[in-house]
Amino acid sequence: HEFDMVVRGGTLASAAEVFEADIGIRGGTIAAIGRDLPRGAEEVSAKGMIVTPGGLDPHCHLEELGQDGSVHEESFSSGSAAALAGGTTSFICFLPQWKGHTLAASAPGYETRAAQSRADYSFHQIITDPTPEVMQREVPALVARGIRSLKVFLTYDPLRLTDAEFIEVLATARRLGAFVTVHCENYDAIGWRIAALLKAGLTDPISHAWARPPVVEREATHRAVALAELVDQPIQVFHVSCEEAAAEIARGRARGLKVWGETCPQYLTLSHDDLARPGFEGAKAVCSPALREKAENERVWRRVQDGTLDVVSSDHCGFSFATAKRAPGGGYGQGGASARPDGTPAFNAIPNGAPGIETRLPVLFSEGVSKGRIDLPTFVRLSSANAAKLFGLAGRKGSLMPGADADLVLWDPDAERTIRNADLHHAIDYTPWEGLAVKGWPMVTIRRGEIAVRDGQVLAQPGSGRFLARGPYALATPTGRVPDGFDAAGVL
Ligand code: URP
Ligand code: ZN
Ligand code: ZN
Ligand code: ZN
Repeated sequence: HEFDMVVRGGTLASAAEVFEADIGIRGGTIAAIGRDLPRGAEEVSAKGMIVTPGGLDPHCHLEELGQDGSVHEESFSSGSAAALAGGTTSFICFLPQWKGHTLAASAPGYETRAAQSRADYSFHQIITDPTPEVMQREVPALVARGIRSLKVFLTYDPLRLTDAEFIEVLATARRLGAFVTVHCENYDAIGWRIAALLKAGLTDPISHAWARPPVVEREATHRAVALAELVDQPIQVFHVSCEEAAAEIARGRARGLKVWGETCPQYLTLSHDDLARPGFEGAKAVCSPALREKAENERVWRRVQDGTLDVVSSDHCGFSFATAKRAPGGGYGQGGASARPDGTPAFNAIPNGAPGIETRLPVLFSEGVSKGRIDLPTFVRLSSANAAKLFGLAGRKGSLMPGADADLVLWDPDAERTIRNADLHHAIDYTPWEGLAVKGWPMVTIRRGEIAVRDGQVLAQPGSGRFLARGPYALATPTGRVPDGFDAAGVL
């Protein structure tokens, strides 16, 4: 046989166009795309299906061990099974750095555990403490190994950087041709609001939103864009939740900056209403930036439609409701381990983040494509192609071109499902989308030419995922423009 597998008779959706064709796969990569390809050793019918590139989730937290002992209760095996079942064939998660520690001494053994993944994977390196040892020795060694992106936080007690530290990270990244992703919220502003809310006895989960209103996100987004401009370093702003922050990114882009924005399904579909659920239920919707008023969902959709926010990631977090969410403190909290009268954590002590690695694409397909907000090529750009470009995986991932990895998803656009946590493959005991009716479902997931999931059955084994080393790429290089023509980063 010329092909190991032929995916036959589907409607292909790439980042650019939609067309009918067969896909011939050989040695795990796409070998041919065309009509009436010869029979493969294995034949997969895609009749009536839409075939997209496999999803690339460039922002998820798996088995991350915090300095405070908090741990994301999602193993690489369970998290990657969930990813594949939801049409995501590769992801980028995070190598932690603990403050006061070198990278080598932070969360030892993490890369070995990641090798249990069933999906292909890479890492962003979190920087919480940019000492000369870390920035001049350890980060260059990481970049040489193909870990080519850094993540920084402008808030959270154990993670946040000062502006001076952030500038140091930007300058180092520029020197190394690495990319920088940024969590944008104003730490001191949030701390001030938390103290006042606690003093007023307003401890319910909805106070999480009141502690960090859009202005704290807008301010930090403006600051991150401005400092990236100062240093001339490309950045992506993570998890944009509101129009005000998106507008700062759009303004930076209009100035010709290399600034991008990501959002997540939670900011397109969930709101204060979810945080304000009775009792402690709202804890399931505690993530940062916080969910906004319901009307904000449509404003974020508009920024997705106009291309300001061009990646939709999950920001998957593995904090279970039964244990982690009910244990005050830890897991990206801020302002101490205060409790509500019944002993559950006050809003500020609830671990942040929502699980969504499996539901990311079904929710985006249903709310986006099926409801007519975006077309199929836009869906492909948001779910894989743009992240592949931003993070140095173009041509391998997110692409339906000969030579690309044969990562494919067969979507039944008419399948109607109701999201139930009981049906999901992740290790977490809730989903914030419980009961959501969706139209369109990933029926078959193919990872490097092998059937990884068929009809909800995960066939890919732990350890079958591959580490994705990333080399230099043009998108991560500076623009060449610095304020007043004086290049401080070139001197220091
Ligand atoms: O609430 C969130 N997003 N938690 C995860 C950590 C982060 O900020 O990305
Ligand atoms: Zn973040
Ligand atoms: Zn409200
Ligand atoms: Zn995150």
